[in-house]
Amino acid sequence: MASPRGEFSSRFGFVMAAAGSAVGLGNIWGFPTQAASNGGAAFLLVYLVLAFTLAYPALMAELIIGRHAHANAVNALRLISPNTALRNLGAATGIAGFIVASLILSFYAIVAGWMLAFCLSSLASLLDMAVLVSWLTSFGIGRNVLFMLIFMAFTIGIISAGVRDGIERWSARLMPALLLTLFLLVVYVLTLDGAMDGLRVYLLPDFERALSPKLIIAALGAAFFSLSLGVGTMLIYGSYINDDENLPVVGGLVTLVDILIAVLAGFLVLPAMYVALHNGVEIFSATGELISEDTLIFTVLPELFATMGFTGIVVSFTFFFLMSTAALTSSISMLEVPVAYVIEEHGLKRKTAVFTIGGIIAIASIVILLNFEALFGLVIAFTTRYSQPLLGFMFCLYAGWVWHRDALLQELRKGNPGVEHSLFWKIWPWYVKLVCPVIIVGIFVQSLWG
Ligand code: TRP
Repeated sequence: MASPRGEFSSRFGFVMAAAGSAVGLGNIWGFPTQAASNGGAAFLLVYLVLAFTLAYPALMAELIIGRHAHANAVNALRLISPNTALRNLGAATGIAGFIVASLILSFYAIVAGWMLAFCLSSLASLLDMAVLVSWLTSFGIGRNVLFMLIFMAFTIGIISAGVRDGIERWSARLMPALLLTLFLLVVYVLTLDGAMDGLRVYLLPDFERALSPKLIIAALGAAFFSLSLGVGTMLIYGSYINDDENLPVVGGLVTLVDILIAVLAGFLVLPAMYVALHNGVEIFSATGELISEDTLIFTVLPELFATMGFTGIVVSFTFFFLMSTAALTSSISMLEVPVAYVIEEHGLKRKTAVFTIGGIIAIASIVILLNFEALFGLVIAFTTRYSQPLLGFMFCLYAGWVWHRDALLQELRKGNPGVEHSLFWKIWPWYVKLVCPVIIVGIFVQSLWG
């Protein structure tokens, strides 16, 4: 059935779109170094277990509610509520989700803009344009604003084309390209001197470190961000799945792809860092930890590429192309959250909605850039550390406690008539009811102190 509000045309299209949302900067710049500094293969194991036992159930909560309501988070949470108080709370949760999604996009677009600038700088160095290279790779307000706007323009362009012609089409193109690029980079980097030392650090298990409670909680937070949970992104993508689809299976595929790419990124980033070390680049911070996040991406790796001559330029271009792609398939999923709400709630045309909201978010990004020291870190902490877990908690409560269990089962039966007898139905309802909320509160309390 072709619905007027848009629908993914195939399982492949949905999995690429949802995995595209999940696979982003978090996977490539966060996961590998975190794993290396925290017990290597043991961390990987902990992360795998957590992703499947906790993040996956939370993902399923969003997908199922979304598919049932075929609506944005505000209307969906309202729809499954039995009384006015819960309906209002649900709507408030949905609205908070769309504000947080917009704020996440406002800082994500800035970082993604840097990726584009670095990608372009490799082309510029190919043409020996030293002044341009230095402008593109230095922190400056002109470059920051320009490339944020270029990145937002791509995001807006894709989202204005709609679910099938925008989100699905571009995710189905970009995700295979991303996988291929990542794979080629891994194979190449593994041939370089020093790479094996990186592999050893990545894969040597240290269970003592990986099993510390603080770390487990950190890994869980990372898993939530990585699967784009808590702001209604997955709920809205779920609302575009057709009723014949087997939700536990597609949700599992998305989780698998997300983890697979994070793990694969480790085979690129850690060997690359030790190749850099071999070439004389500093890869440890003053406290002896491996350098991570933005310093890793914008300082350590470029220094490595610079030691590699012409090949370095090609590898650098490929790498920053990979990062830009990963960011784009994620940013579209953030913009879709507020856009879907405004279209469905206020009857705006998609193009009008996309340009208005995209414009507002771009202005928010400029405000952040103009007050970078004060706002950048603050917005990241407010959205990812506090809001996401709290809202994720609300989604689990609605799926586990508010929504009637029979209605939930009915929804799952649509694409999977035998679901009642499956392992999924035996375990998942308890997870989403008890385990997920308790653990999320645990993360939250910990992050208040941490
Ligand atoms: N999961 C993406 C990443 O790993 C980021 C992302 C996309 C996201 N959509 C989201 C994070 C919604 C939080 C909420 O980079």
